[in-house]
Amino acid sequence: MKKWALCVGTVLVLGLAVSAMAADVLVGACIYKFDDTFMTGVRNAMNAEMKEHSGSLEIVDSQNRQPDQNNQVDTYITKGVNALIVNPVDRTAAAPLMLKAKAEGLPIVFVNREPQEEVMKSYDKTWYVGAKAEESGTLSGQIIADYFKANKAADKNGDGKIQYIMIRGEQGHQDATLRTEYSVKAMKDSGFELEELGSDTANWDKVQGANKMSGFISAVGLDRIEAVLANNDDMALGAIEALKAEGYNAGDPAKFVPVVGVDATAPALEAMKDGSMLGTVLNDAVNQGKAAVRVAVAAAEGREVTKESIGYDVTDERYIWIPYRKVTSENYKEFM
Ligand code: BGC
Ligand code: CA
Repeated sequence: MKKWALCVGTVLVLGLAVSAMAADVLVGACIYKFDDTFMTGVRNAMNAEMKEHSGSLEIVDSQNRQPDQNNQVDTYITKGVNALIVNPVDRTAAAPLMLKAKAEGLPIVFVNREPQEEVMKSYDKTWYVGAKAEESGTLSGQIIADYFKANKAADKNGDGKIQYIMIRGEQGHQDATLRTEYSVKAMKDSGFELEELGSDTANWDKVQGANKMSGFISAVGLDRIEAVLANNDDMALGAIEALKAEGYNAGDPAKFVPVVGVDATAPALEAMKDGSMLGTVLNDAVNQGKAAVRVAVAAAEGREVTKESIGYDVTDERYIWIPYRKVTSENYKEFM
């Protein structure tokens, strides 16, 4: 009898200890800039996930300035956060942030902008939550290739090649480099010869995407452009605006240029619905935000970060890869 009572008592005390600890968890997050459509989705998912835990989450806007972000991390440390989530402004400048966390023994979870491998390896409480950029490049290239296979008239000049425009994301971002490379590779692997009519960065931004696209239209002529590949949806939507300004992609099948993006943002899905955009690739903001918070909370509570504790596969002890998915006219409704 006594033994049993003691046992229950211990369990209760342990239970209290665990929940008290969980309630104390404070996670400090920095997002490279709030004014980014995709990262806004990740941010919303982080806030929603934190509601499932008993701790709290603070998120600040690094306003695209790395020195400001470094100061924000210092402020979080002074404040006594139990874990950090960082979406670096410059992914090649992640080392000092990792070192600040390491000096305090604080877990640090990088998201969306992947630090170099050396940085990831040099502290055992460092994680990265993101998606394999190669995959999204491959899927978007396949969407264009499939369109050309299904529509012979898409090869407007009938030369058997795809004359395309590439609108790239921010220089130095792994997603810009790899999406560009792998989308081209996927079109080639599908058996197409290619001719690049123009390629430029529009820094993930819709207005810049529209400006760059109008520039290409004036430079090479709209009737020569057979496809547009953009590294994200905002830039793809910008390109579509520039096409619409010329009376294209507005319903007349004779005046249509296939445009693909990446992200599957709400406005991109709307554009697919109205027929002005050919396709996109889901960059899963919901699961990236959720996974980042789960890793931060588990690590802050001193639990091991494993599939069992966070519900996502953990690769090489440090990486949580969220898969991309192809979004076409056949399945876009599932994502709306
Ligand atoms: C997204 C972009 C976003 C960028 C921010 C990429 O993964 O596709 O839309 O602007 O991340 O770092
Ligand atoms: Ca052609």
